[in-house]
Amino acid sequence: MSEILLEVKDLTTSFQTSEGKLTAVQNVDITIRKGKVLGVVGESGCGKSVTSLSIMRLLPKNQGFIDSGKVLFEGEDLVALDELEMQKVRGNDIAMIFQEPMTALNPVFTIGNQIGESLTIHKGLKGEENRKVCVELLKKVKIPRAEQVIDEYPHQLSGGMRQRVMIAMALSCEPKLLIADEPTTALDVTIQAQVLDLMRNLSKESNMSVMFITHDLGVIAEMADDVSVMYAGRIVEEADAVTLFDEMQHPYTRGLFSSRVMNVKKGETLQCIPGMVPPLNNLPRGCAFAPRCKQCMPICEEKMPELLEVAPNHKVRCWLYDERRENQ
Ligand SMILES: Nc1ncnc2c1ncn2[C@@H]1O[C@H](COP(=O)(O)OP(=O)(O)O)[C@@H](O)[C@H]1O
Ligand SMILES: [Mg+2]
Repeated sequence: MSEILLEVKDLTTSFQTSEGKLTAVQNVDITIRKGKVLGVVGESGCGKSVTSLSIMRLLPKNQGFIDSGKVLFEGEDLVALDELEMQKVRGNDIAMIFQEPMTALNPVFTIGNQIGESLTIHKGLKGEENRKVCVELLKKVKIPRAEQVIDEYPHQLSGGMRQRVMIAMALSCEPKLLIADEPTTALDVTIQAQVLDLMRNLSKESNMSVMFITHDLGVIAEMADDVSVMYAGRIVEEADAVTLFDEMQHPYTRGLFSSRVMNVKKGETLQCIPGMVPPLNNLPRGCAFAPRCKQCMPICEEKMPELLEVAPNHKVRCWLYDERRENQ
């Protein structure tokens, strides 16, 4: 096992809403190793973004709150930092990219202005030196015509190129961790594959850890060294990627896998997991996946299973693998 960079311990995050307090992330543990890619996967609404926003301490003000838990980054608890200290971490150690780069890029400034500003803030670079490093960063993320693109505006670039610019901006502070929240979901399949390839190579080259969030288990297969599967605000399965794909156990993970288009042979219909992720104000009493699970047993509707180690470095939250169900 390589060294650990970030450890989320027993994180619980809630929102104050008109319906009262709703818990979006419950008792989540996550481990990110140095230089490795952790894939976090689950359907929409499972708490992936809320987990990453909790790590970055970017939950919407006066709405989202970390109720309990720790986020240990190189041993230091980010939850305990004040806003000013946290800003330093965001600028220097952890960077984040989102699904829609157009919303994160300012339409009235050139690409060079925007990457340049980040280089001025984080590295103190000005003038010619600043421009030189900007071009180097654009080349690093494989943007063709980097010397011209630096003077262009976001709307002049394609979606894939804009996402590369976002990655270049994120890399400008040489972060130890890059959090990428569905960064390729809005791109078409070919461009998506290129951006994934780029991110994976960048992580290897500079020994940067990546927390890669997606709803697509196929993307995880291409990217991740380790995988955490989330359902209704909790981790339901986790393992290194090889183990997970060889021996996936949770019915939810299996469902995600079999609903992938690639696994469908010609003439076969696409298998989806029937039903929907339960709303936060109406979570089932037992396992949150029970209402959609083909292998549901009576105990599953009564009691939430624990996340248990079923093999070394492989954990599953499911009564099927918990012998204690006999005594319940
Ligand atoms: N600002 C908010 N106020 C209330 N509920 C929210 C807010 N943001 C997210 N949620 C809820 O938290 C849950 C998890 O959301 P999210 O982390 O965005 O899911 P994912 O990223 O896995 O699609 C969802 O039920 C969502 O509706
Ligand atoms: Mg999300």
